[in-house]
Amino acid sequence: RLPTIGVDIGGTKVVAGVVDGEGRVLESVRTETPHKSKSPAVVEDVIVDLVLQLADKHDVHAVGVGAAGWVDAERSRVLFAPHLNWRNEPLRDALSRRLRFPVVVENDANAAAWAEWRFGAGRGEDHMVMITLGTGIGGAVVRDGWVDRGKYGLAGEFGHMQVVPGGHRCPCGNRGCWEQYSSGNALVREARGLVAEESPVIEGLLARAGGTAEGITGPLVTEAARDGDATATELLYEVGHWLGVGIANLAAALDPGRFVVGGGVSEAGDLLLGPAREAFGRTLTGRGFRPEAGLVHAALGNEAGLVGAADLARQVARRFRTIK
Ligand code: BGC
Ligand code: NA
Ligand code: ZN
Repeated sequence: RLPTIGVDIGGTKVVAGVVDGEGRVLESVRTETPHKSKSPAVVEDVIVDLVLQLADKHDVHAVGVGAAGWVDAERSRVLFAPHLNWRNEPLRDALSRRLRFPVVVENDANAAAWAEWRFGAGRGEDHMVMITLGTGIGGAVVRDGWVDRGKYGLAGEFGHMQVVPGGHRCPCGNRGCWEQYSSGNALVREARGLVAEESPVIEGLLARAGGTAEGITGPLVTEAARDGDATATELLYEVGHWLGVGIANLAAALDPGRFVVGGGVSEAGDLLLGPAREAFGRTLTGRGFRPEAGLVHAALGNEAGLVGAADLARQVARRFRTIK
């Protein structure tokens, strides 16, 4: 059972790792995601560079890529990505040509869901829904051991369901998308908004951020909330509240047995999931008269995306017989 490589390309960072057949990460490397204005070739260079660093030291024969975008039904092209510069990008072929390994491309949240189902918080659940809170919201539905990708590969784009008519503008082009209210970007936008208002309640966070609005990041807000900062706690409360409302809507549509919440913002733990459970309980239709899905924290943390991508690569490589 040779290890494979998984790569997770998010809106903020690119992480690659060597993963064994049991989902254990043997070594990982990371770097920042090139800015959205850079050409797709620049992102490819970053991926190739990380993969070659790892392939130099480990005997690997397949690469899986979880990408923060809309991956087509053939798991080959990225059709669109709100947070990256990909428009109908033939990512799989471009990478396999350069790497000379079989490559599989999957949506980042689908890859994370696969990992949680195989090795983490989704084990044993035959109907699971994954939500990842990072730069945006990623989503996936795992049914009977398969990621349900929809007809065109685009199922699970929960982040772009409209929750506030006429609400905040989203990079997808619409307004009021769920990820504008419940994500790392939403958290940071709200915190910086208080700076712009010169509100006294943001002074504590601002001091931690070195005095500038740009210094305020998601992890910084979480750290401040953990230390008892009231504004940081309230900012996370709001994100958690919207998370719970959206999950209640998903329960109405999909009725899974378990929701698994992962992604960077979920590191806030109960500061996020507490308010989410509360809003879920209040918003769920038919509450009190129906079984309720569990709402749990992801088990694999920020490694879920790369672990899932690596495991999908293993499946594909088996098919091409380059790996056992
Ligand atoms: C994208 C998804 C992606 C998610 C998390 C969303 O904005 O539309 O494709 O999975 O962000 O990265
Ligand atoms: Na998805
Ligand atoms: Zn959107």
